[in-house]
Amino acid sequence: MNKQRKKTSFFSQKIVRRLPLFTFLVVVLGLSQALAQGTEGDAAKGETLFKNNCASCHKVTAERSVGPGLKGITERRDVPWLVKWIHNPSAMIASGDEYAVKIYNEYNKVQMTSFPNLSEDDIKGILAYIEQANAAPAAQAEATGAPAAGGATAQAGAPSDLFILVLVALLVVMLLVLGVLLVIVTILSKAVGGETTEGSEGTFMTRLRTSLTKVAGNSVVRSATIWVFVLLVVKATIDGAFNVGVQQGYAPKQPIAFSHKLHAGDYKIDCNYCHTGASRSRSAHIPSANICMNCHGVIKKESPEIQKIYEAIENDRPIEWVRVHNLPDLAYFNHAQHVNVGGLQCQQCHGEIEKMEVVQQRSSLTMGWCIDCHRKTDVNTKGNAYYDNLVQLHGQENKGALKVADIGGLECSKCHY
Ligand code: HEC
Ligand code: HEC
Ligand code: HEC
Ligand code: HEC
Ligand code: HEC
Ligand code: HEC
Repeated sequence: MNKQRKKTSFFSQKIVRRLPLFTFLVVVLGLSQALAQGTEGDAAKGETLFKNNCASCHKVTAERSVGPGLKGITERRDVPWLVKWIHNPSAMIASGDEYAVKIYNEYNKVQMTSFPNLSEDDIKGILAYIEQANAAPAAQAEATGAPAAGGATAQAGAPSDLFILVLVALLVVMLLVLGVLLVIVTILSKAVGGETTEGSEGTFMTRLRTSLTKVAGNSVVRSATIWVFVLLVVKATIDGAFNVGVQQGYAPKQPIAFSHKLHAGDYKIDCNYCHTGASRSRSAHIPSANICMNCHGVIKKESPEIQKIYEAIENDRPIEWVRVHNLPDLAYFNHAQHVNVGGLQCQQCHGEIEKMEVVQQRSSLTMGWCIDCHRKTDVNTKGNAYYDNLVQLHGQENKGALKVADIGGLECSKCHY
């Protein structure tokens, strides 16, 4: 009989001890879920969409680039107008919409890409991101693309770090609460059971103290801590795995302080003058020191930076530029196909290089980025006899414009060896 009682009390104690652990884990999981929703909701999705689709032509600030700065856009235009515009800007201009025609002329009749595949929610996400970026000064600095070195870390920055910080703080508080609860439970169960152990004769405070030491050594508390730690590590690993190899924002320091802003921006030297391969081969090529010497044989010879070019030539050693854009070997990309045949501007993929003091990778260069553009970009068929038959066939089947996707731009083998 006595034995029986001891057994049940042992079990009930075990359950009582485990209970806080379970509630605790459930609460933590629930909280992390809720937090994740809060910080990675619409605006975060909007940020990705913006960076992949709009950042090459728009800034989130008021600053003008290829297109207008989008700060305060939701005050200038209402959402239905924006959705219509983003889905099909050329249709809007053609329809004679006064505002559309005005900005079109103001931006030298540069045609904005149409995005028929973005849902209304996607667009609302982008708008939310624009508002958020303008509200947070840190995000704003990042979005203006200050080509500061270490852009890559800034990119990965604030929200997820903050998220983890908040989680950790919450955990500490929870652990404290759990500890106190356990102490009370032990004291109470002892009081009820009327057990007599060494501690029970002392004052309440000494009992509390011995209990606290016990709690610290308690295996439940320890395993809870370990589990929570494991959960955090797993989350961080999963988040990291999605970004392996993605170097958006990467802007390494170069061996010579060569500035595109100065050369391509201020002096308006054509990109093809230096990147001779861009319109006729797979690689755009980085210019050799000899090309620099065409000008620097006379210009600014005394500058220490220019002296580095001389040194390279004298030692017959190429300048060791740090590569910025780099696809993995498994992918095939051809500049001529895009620049020459496709008629794309360098800026559509590389951003405004002519404003960069230090080159920064603006696009994600992920497979999704390539595919996305192929889905929505019309093939440049004008004056290309090669496409005449194809256009005719396509026209008979459906009325939409011929997209890159329609000519095989989504076939694995086109981009993978
Ligand atoms: C190829 C460059 C390009 C891309 C990509 C682009 N836009 Fe534009 N956008 C423009 C240009 C240029 C204008 C100015 C009107 C014109 O010339 O057609 C414009 C105008 C706008 C306007 C009106 C701005 C104002 O101040 O009234 C909005 C809104 C807009 N774009 C949103 C977007 C969004 C959102 C995306 C991404 C989903 C995007 N654009 C992608 C070039 C682009
Ligand atoms: C005077 C020569 C010169 C001109 C003109 C020039 N570039 Fe460059 N470009 C360079 C050099 C040198 C590098 C390597 C150093 C660096 O990254 O800054 C480079 C690097 C780049 C890179 C990064 C390459 C990588 O490692 O991934 C891109 C992209 C690029 N240029 C695009 C352009 C575009 C677009 C233009 C025209 C708007 C242009 N360049 C005009 C000389 C030039
Ligand atoms: C078509 C002519 C031209 C070519 C080609 C050219 N540059 Fe320049 N570069 C200039 C001019 C013009 C300046 C501005 C000189 C001044 O500020 O007085 C300049 C300035 C510079 C400066 C700043 C020097 C200083 O101390 O202010 C550097 C560094 C530089 N160039 C590096 C290069 C490199 C590297 C290449 C080859 C990849 C190159 N340039 C190719 C015309 C050229
Ligand atoms: C359709 C998108 C796209 C366009 C348009 C484009 N590039 Fe690139 N560029 C890329 C990609 C992707 C890479 C990385 C290629 C790799 O790693 O194999 C790259 C790499 C480069 C590099 C590094 C050297 C190399 O070839 O790998 C330079 C320089 C460059 N681009 C310059 C230019 C210039 C100049 C133009 C315009 C004349 C241009 N690009 C147009 C997507 C583009
Ligand atoms: C800014 C839009 C854009 C981006 C980004 C882009 N492409 Fe393209 N791509 C095009 C266009 C436009 C064509 C059609 C050129 C033509 O008329 O042949 C094309 C054609 C191609 C083709 C030939 C398809 C065929 O069936 O003939 C390949 C391969 C290709 N792209 C690979 C890539 C890869 C790999 C990436 C990413 C690293 C990429 N593209 C990113 C616009 C883009
Ligand atoms: C328009 C070009 C393009 C097409 C079409 C394409 N890919 Fe890719 N793929 C890429 C690029 C670029 C990368 C490298 C992305 C990176 O480094 O993040 C890639 C990466 C991958 C990877 C490596 C994993 C990863 O995400 O980095 C796999 C696997 C893959 N592609 C499979 C496929 C399959 C299967 C298809 C056909 C259904 C396909 N790809 C079609 C461009 C393309």
